[in-house]
Amino acid sequence: MTYTPQNILITGGAGFIGANFCHYWHDAHIDHRLIVLDALTYAGNHANLQGLESSPRFRFVHGNILDQELVEGLLREEKIDTIVHFAAESHVDRSIHSPDGFLETNILGTHTLLKAARGVWLDEQQHNADNCLFHHVSTDEVYGTLAPDDPPFHETTPYAPNSPYAASKASSDHFVRAYAETYGLPITISNCSNNYGPYQFPEKLIPLIIANILDGKPLPVYGDGKQIRDWLYVDDHNRAIDLIIHQGRRDEAYNIGGNNEWQNIDIVLKVCDLLDGIFSKAGEQMSKRFPNAPQVHGEKAATLITYVKDRLGHDRRYAIDATKINGELNFSPAETFESGITKTVQWYLDQEPWWRAIMDGSYQEWIDTNY
Ligand code: NAD
Ligand code: TYD
Repeated sequence: MTYTPQNILITGGAGFIGANFCHYWHDAHIDHRLIVLDALTYAGNHANLQGLESSPRFRFVHGNILDQELVEGLLREEKIDTIVHFAAESHVDRSIHSPDGFLETNILGTHTLLKAARGVWLDEQQHNADNCLFHHVSTDEVYGTLAPDDPPFHETTPYAPNSPYAASKASSDHFVRAYAETYGLPITISNCSNNYGPYQFPEKLIPLIIANILDGKPLPVYGDGKQIRDWLYVDDHNRAIDLIIHQGRRDEAYNIGGNNEWQNIDIVLKVCDLLDGIFSKAGEQMSKRFPNAPQVHGEKAATLITYVKDRLGHDRRYAIDATKINGELNFSPAETFESGITKTVQWYLDQEPWWRAIMDGSYQEWIDTNY
């Protein structure tokens, strides 16, 4: 089928993938209206949406997906026909230390959105099931972990989440599916592998490694560093979601991946090599900007690698079988890992004030003062 959204509610649009999605969608679909609903938690950053605020097709709403009245009001007022649901607590390490917030946002928050969509779209008949869609953005982590020779995750792989984060996302996926089966809410789900690219919060592996190299800080590698992840450039994820929304089959889940498995230690070494190369070609100015970087003192970035205690319940390997989206929707990533990671490292070099503000806490102070 071909579906044409008009007014899109993007939850979590001030976070990493959500913000990239907003920029992507605003440029790709010039006749659509975008409404972002974001609670601006520690991971949400208004600055990620810079450039969109002046667009008449864009509106930012500061609010929580747990606020059903607010969500219902937005669905009615903005005549929303499509929800793209990114909002979540997303960091596995935080979920291990304090799981409660993950249950609240990822499970109850998703359920609140589902109730609002069902109520306004179907019960109040703002739309019929052919002209609205709830797209739920999920993760490959719901499938659990793979042994080295296991086949990659398929849409039919049984769910076996291991971290509180993964369990909360798995639960939300089940609720989304249940609302389709029980109430006829039109839904699609995507389960994507690890994303990387601009605006990623520097608690996640790739931006953390970049920032720590530039500041001459240790590069923490959990356990033996041989855990494997599949990595996809964020705008490739966004293009895949676009295809699912426009052409995907309703009530279906699609795996999205980059066919790009890397051991963590190799990712860290790759980022080290890229920055070593950049420093070797750069002039005096780089040394002035980053006086603590090891390259300034004649050392390689890899000297900062520090093996630390492993993450509890650390999944060993994720890999994606993306045959379904490749075949049905003709999706394949546009970026190679080489081009994507090179762009990403350059973005963090160019946008130093963005990650500095986060790392020194000034961004959070700004939220506390302004919201
Ligand atoms: P993120 O942590 O960078 O951003 C999450 C956003 O949600 C933030 O802007 C935050 O303020 C907002 N938010 C959190 N709780 C909220 C609430 N209760 N109400 C409203 N807004 C709230 O996350 P991300 O990495 O951009 O991930 C986005 C989505 O994609 C998540 O659902 C995640 O599970 C999924 N996903 C992420 C990856 C990845 O590699 N990052 C991979 C696959 C799937
Ligand atoms: P992360 O970016 O947190 O994503 P996820 O846990 O969702 O895969 O971590 C990616 C991998 O890198 C994961 O196997 C944990 C590992 N890791 C480290 O080794 N050191 C770190 O400092 C971080 C943040 C992650």
